[in-house]
Amino acid sequence: MTRFLDACYRRPTDATPVWFMRQAGRYQPEYRALRARYDLLTLLRTPELAVQVTRLPKALGVDALILFADILLPLEPLGLGLHFVPGEGPVLEHPLRTVDTILGLRPFPVEEALGFVLETVRGVRAVESDLPLIGFAGAPFTLASYAIEGGGSRHYTHTKRLLYTHPHAWDHLMQVLTDITAAYLRAQVRAGAQAVQVFDSWVGALSPRTYRRAVLPHLQRLFARLADLGVPRIYFSTGTAGLLPDLQALDAEVIGVDWRVDLGRAWDLVGGAERVAIQGNLDPLALFAPPEVLAAEVRAVLDQAAGRPGHIFNLGHGILPATDPDQVRRVVDWVHAATAS
Ligand code: CP3
Repeated sequence: MTRFLDACYRRPTDATPVWFMRQAGRYQPEYRALRARYDLLTLLRTPELAVQVTRLPKALGVDALILFADILLPLEPLGLGLHFVPGEGPVLEHPLRTVDTILGLRPFPVEEALGFVLETVRGVRAVESDLPLIGFAGAPFTLASYAIEGGGSRHYTHTKRLLYTHPHAWDHLMQVLTDITAAYLRAQVRAGAQAVQVFDSWVGALSPRTYRRAVLPHLQRLFARLADLGVPRIYFSTGTAGLLPDLQALDAEVIGVDWRVDLGRAWDLVGGAERVAIQGNLDPLALFAPPEVLAAEVRAVLDQAAGRPGHIFNLGHGILPATDPDQVRRVVDWVHAATAS
């Protein structure tokens, strides 16, 4: 039960903990069977089903569970109209495109609007005694990018135009999203989440200078508001090797990094094992390699961690739908065997 939480606090562990982003999802036959009966939003909004999906990865031998929810759920009560279109991904019906609309946005009461997520957290904790539960939310920039673009994006044209042209509206939007996210994560912890992860999946699109001006101050406020909860706070981003030194200014217990940077180097850049734990960073595509190649890739990540306390093994981003669950199981077993004390 404590291996994952101990590693978050850089305490010694009996083996390196492992979990996977998107560990509950379409690569699992059990998940696909549920999806054949229910659409995604129904699964997400029905606590009884979401509890079941959250616990599916137990069979893999992972050391933590992540709540089955989605970072985009808070955009629905903001009035943006969330849909998941098969083959296309998420779509927001009413993207934020005018300064006036943005300046009119206000936080909403999360306990009411997202009560079903909190019910899922309580439901998992009521039946799960072996594994800690990670709650999560999207980071303000990544949420803003979906809210403004209306879905996934390649160049973040509308988002960056707003950020450069209307800094006042941008800051208001980031403040509203920060307030909502802080309240949402606090509510998840009150409901029983034992750690929280903030997903800033797309912030690597920004220059370090813009990150420091337009994003980091809001993240600092967000993490400060989570400081008294007594649970580890994980900040995850991708494509951000050039921003890692700036993350020393963020008060987080764990920094999640992708595979585009050597894990050991990333750790040094964020302040070393004296300051912070690190999570990552196997390339999700390594799971498509022959087992002996996969084994070498896993070994390379562990070599980079070099036995420092505070390594949480994970991928550098989520598991892809075409992944073979047997490969995932192998990684868990190898990491545990290679690091057992
Ligand atoms: O197992 C887990 O990781 C927990 C559940 C989880 C989901 N989404 C469920 C989901 C988590 C942690 C997320 C986070 C999330 N959602 C992120 C941040 C992490 C990342 O991958 O960068 C982002 C950007 C989203 C937005 C989102 N949700 C996208 C872009 C998509 C479509 C792409 C895709 O993979 O289909 C989703 C849908 C979604 N959320 C699925 C799952 C399991 C696919 C579901 C399905 O069609 O059944």
